[in-house]
Amino acid sequence: MTLAHPAPQTVLGLETSCDETAAAVVRRHADGRVEVLSSVVGSQIAEHAPYGGVVPEIAARAHVETIEQIARAALGEAGVGYGDLTGVAATAGPGLVGGVMVGLSFGKAVALARGLPLVAVNHLEGHAVSARLGAELIDYPFLLLLVSGGHCQLLSVEGVGACRRLGSTIDDAAGEAFDKIAKAMGLPYPGGPALERLAEGGDPQAFQLPRMLLGRKDCDFSFSGLKTAAARLAEGVTAETDRRDLAAAVQAAIAGQLAEKSARAMEGYAREHAGEPLRFVVAGGVAANKAVRARLEAAATAHGFAFAAPPLAYCTDNAAMIALAGAERLALGLADPLDAVARPRWPLDEAAAAASPTHKPGRKGAKA
Ligand code: KG4
Ligand code: ZN
Repeated sequence: MTLAHPAPQTVLGLETSCDETAAAVVRRHADGRVEVLSSVVGSQIAEHAPYGGVVPEIAARAHVETIEQIARAALGEAGVGYGDLTGVAATAGPGLVGGVMVGLSFGKAVALARGLPLVAVNHLEGHAVSARLGAELIDYPFLLLLVSGGHCQLLSVEGVGACRRLGSTIDDAAGEAFDKIAKAMGLPYPGGPALERLAEGGDPQAFQLPRMLLGRKDCDFSFSGLKTAAARLAEGVTAETDRRDLAAAVQAAIAGQLAEKSARAMEGYAREHAGEPLRFVVAGGVAANKAVRARLEAAATAHGFAFAAPPLAYCTDNAAMIALAGAERLALGLADPLDAVARPRWPLDEAAAAASPTHKPGRKGAKA
């Protein structure tokens, strides 16, 4: 039994599930309007770059060292004190558990000290609501492509906490494919943005890459064959123009598969939501890629869907999306006990995850 609290919510959000220590203050008005009062992201890229990827121990330690000052900076930028908050929302998973525990423990301490409700937020739910942080409020329901370093899935989103998975990757996540191919091409970590920069002006037709799972009628993705083929090609490619072409071909292959599978999901979703406004949302780190956005927008338009993506700053990991997920839950009267646990794996649609035991989540367990 839950009680609705349509009163305004001013929520401190905390995000520590991977290599960003982030805090934000978001105000959700009673009519559903959203204001981001602050969003501070402390990146650990410099600490992890020498290792070519995220080192969990280094990440957890960096979160411990910076969480308090980042939370204080978020409150300062928002012009509010702990006394002005109506709740605290912290990522409780999925992700690197050492880091998750840092943010969740900090959130519990604030909630306990200030007598505030705590929301233990699923990081993926944060990505799912992130498009609602933009200037124009995207209403529920919508079809969501959640595409990041650890996840690649299509979800029918009816509201906060009400997601049904329509398809997901059977091997790697799209961001993982970007990162691993970028690494094979000698590009610096994080690979996705570096590969996008290299691809500028390249000819995507110059290389033939495998088109995975396109003959299948489902909405599942696969990137491992592309990853292997591209890594093999990368070994023999040294001239800068060829490297640009290969990067452009990889980017086009990933964007193409995302668009084709999303289009398939749109067809089924449109049948189920006949007569309703149709909305397609892309969220997660890979949604920052302009070629990916363009292909998805074209597919959405062709299928009669309105297209939406979060502002660029809210595609990659941030705490504003966690604060908003928390505020939306609090508005529904949903909060969590102070003994809420950190969950390294935590699928958004638990029923679908249980029904597909062969599914192997991407890098970092079930991290998004
Ligand atoms: O959601 P996110 O910040 O966090 C985790 O997955 O932990 O997504 C990060 C992923 C990485 O794989 C990164 O390479 C990818 O998103 N990414 C991009 C771009 N920006 C971030 N991939 C392609 N093009 C980009 N511009
Ligand atoms: Zn994420």
